[in-house]
Amino acid sequence: MSDAAMAKRDAGFRAADMVKDGMVIGLGTGSTVFFAMERLGERIKTEGLKIAGVPTSHQTAQRAEEYGIPLTTLSLHPKLDLAIDGADQVSPEKYLVKGRGAALLREKIVADAADKFIVVIDESKSVTGLSAAIPLEVLPFAYGSVCRRLKELGGDPVMRNGVKKDGPVISDNGNYIFDCAFGNITDPKALEDAINAIPGILECGIFAKLTEKTTVIIGKPSA
Ligand code: A5P
Repeated sequence: MSDAAMAKRDAGFRAADMVKDGMVIGLGTGSTVFFAMERLGERIKTEGLKIAGVPTSHQTAQRAEEYGIPLTTLSLHPKLDLAIDGADQVSPEKYLVKGRGAALLREKIVADAADKFIVVIDESKSVTGLSAAIPLEVLPFAYGSVCRRLKELGGDPVMRNGVKKDGPVISDNGNYIFDCAFGNITDPKALEDAINAIPGILECGIFAKLTEKTTVIIGKPSA
């Protein structure tokens, strides 16, 4: 296993060990949170840990089945004890960029529903300031006007295209994903608000409003 993968595993396992019996938890998407889910599966088998998870993507739901993690819904559990998720960039203020895996809309809904938000990363995701292109979930009907608005905000929106599929990536919710570069982001909260105010944008990959309930775990490769 590479150093980066070992660091992700360390972060994921540490987050999974914070989960207590009886909790209902949000399950993010991505390679780091899948390590947390692997460890939760082990704890369910060896300790009899009783939990239920709300998955943020089809892929996470499939992994949960594989690891034996019972699933539930936000309709049954509109308030979650905690959510565990990865990130693409994390600033010292705990502002995040998320959405490399195109799951940002459900990820933000689930993080918002949780009392505590545990963000699991390896060191490479820790940055002094956010600068990554921001993933955006966009209603297909509106993408032309959305792009015009994003350019007026100073962004450079690029439609995300499939790798083994011609044309646009379609999210789990049936929408387009754009990646929009803004250079160095000096005021993430203001930019998140400005982007989310554009009609047709369903969610923005800047997570700047959750800092008070966020704990960041940076995994170590040697652990
Ligand atoms: C999914 O859409 C993303 O927000 C992921 O949570 C993020 O990209 C982190 O992924 P890794 O844990 O695979 O790096």
